Amino acid sequence: MKEIVVSGIRSTGYLHLGNYFGAIQNYVKMQEDFNCYFFVADYHALTTHPDPKELKPNVYRVIAENVASGLDPNKVALYAQSDIPEIPELYLMLNMLAYKGELEKTASFKDKARSQPDNINAGLLTYPSLMAADILIHKAHKVPVGKDQEQHLEMTRNFAGRFNHRYGDLFPEPTAFNFGEQLVKIPSLDGKGKMSKSENENATIYLADEDDKIRKKVMKAKTDGGPTEANTPMPDYIENIFMLMKLVSSEEHYNQFLNNYNNCEIRYGDMKKQLAEDMIKFVSPIREKAVAMQNDIPLLQKILAEGKDKARESASKTLSDARKMIGINY
Ligand code: TYM
Repeated sequence: MKEIVVSGIRSTGYLHLGNYFGAIQNYVKMQEDFNCYFFVADYHALTTHPDPKELKPNVYRVIAENVASGLDPNKVALYAQSDIPEIPELYLMLNMLAYKGELEKTASFKDKARSQPDNINAGLLTYPSLMAADILIHKAHKVPVGKDQEQHLEMTRNFAGRFNHRYGDLFPEPTAFNFGEQLVKIPSLDGKGKMSKSENENATIYLADEDDKIRKKVMKAKTDGGPTEANTPMPDYIENIFMLMKLVSSEEHYNQFLNNYNNCEIRYGDMKKQLAEDMIKFVSPIREKAVAMQNDIPLLQKILAEGKDKARESASKTLSDARKMIGINY
């Protein structure tokens, strides 16, 4: 039997290279050999109270950008979280196994509590149990995500273990996954933090960015006067530029600039020009496909409807087992 893979992306804004290299690139590879469930986490988006008018276009765009990146809806289940009523039901069950203390200690909760002090809602607190429900509803083995989701995966394993201990074995304990073995964190271009859907917008490359915008953002990336002694260790912000170059440029260009750096001959202007052109080559075909697809609403609706059927088939089996094991079968 094929191993089961589950992963989701919140519909809170434009997808960027962090989402691509942390998650989507893995989805595209995994669709060949695994039984895959990928979804738009629209309930999770509600924890930050998005404008109702923006939700639908955001969900459609996430679907279009995934397909434009190479995900084939015929090979995977591609669906919206809110189309699967079994997920909130399992979420309710898992909330009985999740403790206030551990939820309050979660890094993502603490961050959000700090950034939106007027809206520390219960959905934000129980974000990890909803995420565990997303994953466990299909009894997943592997969850392709970026490094920022590692703690949520650890909590998912804890909730799964508690359920199994209390009611009997139902859930495998899923692990975070990346083909490169290590989970990745794609840095922003300003040397401060990571690329993000809602922060650091001028230092994040979005899959929807036009060529000129990419050029401008890359040329503004933080650099300095360059090293003055051979083989000087790189400052973080320079290491970040090399990391981005490794992802989108040829090995030849990468090695050339690395040699230049080590010989103190680096010209960051040239390096950034090269990086910008390589990013454009990478992003523009995805952008063009995604834009075309976003206008084809019937196609997006068909993908969502088919994904929903596939996902509900698997979800309803798991939920019916969970209900029986808990004793809810009158
Ligand atoms: P979200 O929507 O913030 O991000 C989607 C995916 O992109 C990854 N990612 C990154 N990877 C590397 N570098 C970055 N700068 C970067 N930014 C984002 C994220 O790690 C993620 O894999 N809670 C999740 C959504 C979710 C989910 C799930 C994921 C809900 N239920 C079940 C997996 C399984 C989130 O907010 O991802």
